[in-house]
Amino acid sequence: MTASAVPNPPVVPAALLNALRQAHRLVILTGAGMSAESGVPTFRDAMHGLWEQFDPAELASQEGWDVDRDRVWAWYEWRRRLVQLARPNAGHLAIPRLAKAIGELSGHDVKVDLITQNVDDLHERGGSRRVVHLHGSLFEPRCYLCGRQGQFTGPPPVEAVEKIPPPKCKHCNGVLRPGVVWFGEGLPDHAWSHAEQLVTDCDVLLVVGTSGVVYPAARLPVMARANGKWVYEINPTRSELSDKVHLHWQTTAAIGLPELVTALQLQVG
Ligand code: APR
Repeated sequence: MTASAVPNPPVVPAALLNALRQAHRLVILTGAGMSAESGVPTFRDAMHGLWEQFDPAELASQEGWDVDRDRVWAWYEWRRRLVQLARPNAGHLAIPRLAKAIGELSGHDVKVDLITQNVDDLHERGGSRRVVHLHGSLFEPRCYLCGRQGQFTGPPPVEAVEKIPPPKCKHCNGVLRPGVVWFGEGLPDHAWSHAEQLVTDCDVLLVVGTSGVVYPAARLPVMARANGKWVYEINPTRSELSDKVHLHWQTTAAIGLPELVTALQLQVG
């Protein structure tokens, strides 16, 4: 099913509303589908223009860097520009409103934390403050040699460019690399342990817009369910996680999340 085939307005599953009404701690795990309606392509979407001939899985890897780091840097600069031009969608904007809506319905405080695999900053620009970035950030390059955080030399180019040499580190003169987790690399320890703690402590885990094929992030919903938590999924198509969660809600992030806030508000009183 494509995003355009999703029923609008969708029917919010009663089981999800009931679980949220009782929740004190909600955790939302997001993937590339969360930003799709902001115009940021998902990893399994074909790329356009200059980059359509390349496989993202090859560019986002140590091997890709070793073969041609100027090309990899240019691809990340193109993505930085794409994200800078994008705006948080209705789903990003709904998330900070969820805690208030649940709180007003239940009469108790609710803590909402986000764990994202996305390297964009659309959650933060959409008003969310408690965001764990499992796969790093497009906006925090670091030195390939000494590991210290680096600085961009300017804004990304307006037009896609095939090769751009990465800037130098001001501490050791090494080259900068994107501050993201590439395929085959481990996750930052602090981000992963924080994420594990969050899914262990939550009451409800809502999984939005991830294919569930990339580990270890895909383990979090399974871990939550094994710990007795309610686990729900928002995705316009079935994913690798759909059979592992309590309920797959077939809708998109920008339709389903605002609809969820409205449904909670309608139940008040
Ligand atoms: N709303 C919600 N979900 C959507 C939407 C939408 N509008 N559009 C697409 N999706 C779903 C797709 O059905 C798919 O299941 O989002 C998912 C996107 O999957 P991927 O592209 O595989 O993205 P993700 O799961 O985040 O990939 C994980 O892999 O490439 C690495 O590091 C990269 O963080 C990324 C990780």
